[in-house]
Amino acid sequence: MRIYDTGTPSQRESATLPGEQDHEARVRAHIAAAVRAAGGWIGFDRFMELALYAPGLGYYSAGARKLGPGGDFTTAPEISRLFGAAVAAAGAGVLGEIGGGAILEIGAGSGRLAADLLEFLGARGIEPSRYWILDVSAELRDRQRTHLRERLGDRIDRVEWLDEPPAAPFDGLIVANEVLDALPVVRFRWSRAGVEELGVECPDGERFEWSARPANPALATACDALRDAAGGDWADGYESEWCPRLRPWATEVTRSLRTGAVLWFDYGLPRAHYYLAERRQGTLICHYRHRVSDDPFARPGLEDISAWVDFTALAEVGDDAGFDIAGYTTQAYFLAGNGIDAHLRELAGADPLQSARLANEARRLMMPGEMGERFKAMAWCRGLTGAPSGFALRDLRHTL
Ligand SMILES: C[S@@+](CC[C@H](N)C(=O)[O-])C[C@H]1O[C@@H](n2cnc3c(N)ncnc32)[C@H](O)[C@@H]1O
Repeated sequence: MRIYDTGTPSQRESATLPGEQDHEARVRAHIAAAVRAAGGWIGFDRFMELALYAPGLGYYSAGARKLGPGGDFTTAPEISRLFGAAVAAAGAGVLGEIGGGAILEIGAGSGRLAADLLEFLGARGIEPSRYWILDVSAELRDRQRTHLRERLGDRIDRVEWLDEPPAAPFDGLIVANEVLDALPVVRFRWSRAGVEELGVECPDGERFEWSARPANPALATACDALRDAAGGDWADGYESEWCPRLRPWATEVTRSLRTGAVLWFDYGLPRAHYYLAERRQGTLICHYRHRVSDDPFARPGLEDISAWVDFTALAEVGDDAGFDIAGYTTQAYFLAGNGIDAHLRELAGADPLQSARLANEARRLMMPGEMGERFKAMAWCRGLTGAPSGFALRDLRHTL
């Protein structure tokens, strides 16, 4: 989902900016050519891949501002340093137990979480041996460099940008906030007559339309399992998404972690809730300038496209990769379990205005109607004696 700010009127203005229309036209032409080359139809996962990641064109590959007030959405680290303080508390326990190690952050956005983590860990006397950032966006990598240089000065030396996950085994921590939701998803429609895959056509070479085809056997089998997991009472016409790329991607980016923990944060649900009959339109959601829509064809290349995460699937991937699924809870309980109140008091000091501002930020991170419930935290561990802190207050693993 991301969170969208109410912002100022100019921030909320949703007309495209000069230059954006040309960019959108190039993205449309690129995707339309891919549709033509594929014989007139592509799966939605391919559309999403091109719209988000086509080199030099996709939302994440090109210059869209993405995060923050002048962008399209905001995230927990953008809202408050309290998020980084809590993740640092959990990470400190992990690095403490294994006697140090490296941190790999996947999808580092503006670089705020990296700076916050390194500052809060440093304040606890913990310096990771390396801080690796793996991010597909060249534009965001530049922003991360600028932000980290401003915040860390010479300590930026320990930050390294990777093009691939580390090849050699390492000990430490992997952190990913709001990355899984950007993995391209397959879209499907179920009826008693059979399962269809909802793909994309481009009849006039410019505008995209949904178009259904009979599902391939892998999708049909997956749908049966998703439907069973959710109680089996989907009505005809039920639509949702499935993310076959989750398994290979999450396995690959965590493969080299020998001892330590992976902390995943994202909006999502256990499978049985994700695929409930009531959620009959799925969870696909687009963000453009802090406005949400469910139309991924409106502004290809200019708007973010994402889908909720099936946390049961994520747990299965971790389990199959040899990790212990050591924790699963809501963002609110993760933050509470990592002492967000104490961090707030410490950061505010004796300044009442600062205290009020931080309390407001904490509410946004924790309130059920904001990010507190929709966002979840999951820990995968390998070779540790227990879960990282923050997962004991409300253990939701039984819901997976
Ligand atoms: C929604 S932003 C979240 C940024 C940051 N974690 C935060 O919470 O503010 C998604 C981030 O993941 C990156 N990203 C998207 N897909 C990725 C992928 N397949 N591999 C690595 N990074 C990816 C984007 O470039 C961006 O930095």
